[in-house]
Amino acid sequence: MLNQKVADLLNVQINKELYSAYLYLHFSNFYHEQGLDGFANWYQVQAQEERDHAMLFVKYLQNNDAPVTYEAIDKPSVELKERMDPLAAGLKHEQYVTGLIHAIYEAAYEARDFRTMQFLDWFVKEQGEEETNASDLVKKMELFGGDAKALYMLDSELGGRTYSAPSLVL
Ligand code: FEO
Repeated sequence: MLNQKVADLLNVQINKELYSAYLYLHFSNFYHEQGLDGFANWYQVQAQEERDHAMLFVKYLQNNDAPVTYEAIDKPSVELKERMDPLAAGLKHEQYVTGLIHAIYEAAYEARDFRTMQFLDWFVKEQGEEETNASDLVKKMELFGGDAKALYMLDSELGGRTYSAPSLVL
């Protein structure tokens, strides 16, 4: 039996991950409209990863015979005007998600729920990678965003990102 607080937080996290997917689809659409299809692709793939994250939480709850509740997903609230806006908002969002994962970890720790702590270890590492990726994109845009040729090359690079399933299998 999962601790109730831990189970509740895991359920909330499903919604947060699906919101992340929705937010990144919003970003992807913004770049598509700007003609930056590489950036659009990067966030499209990111959205797929976020859906995977949600499904890992679903599966973990199901494996532990805990109820799964799907709540409404919020409308992406970030207003996008400049090319930097999605990148800066993406970094901020990942930092927020890291805080959420750590809060679940803390609840699991307090409940001496070692199984959930081990499950969350993958997400703690993943969040580190996601923050690094988001921060790298901000830096690259700061450096190259003002130069059309460099922006074209950066867009081409991001267009090469392909989806791969998460390394964590439940
Ligand atoms: Fe599922 Fe980007 O954190």
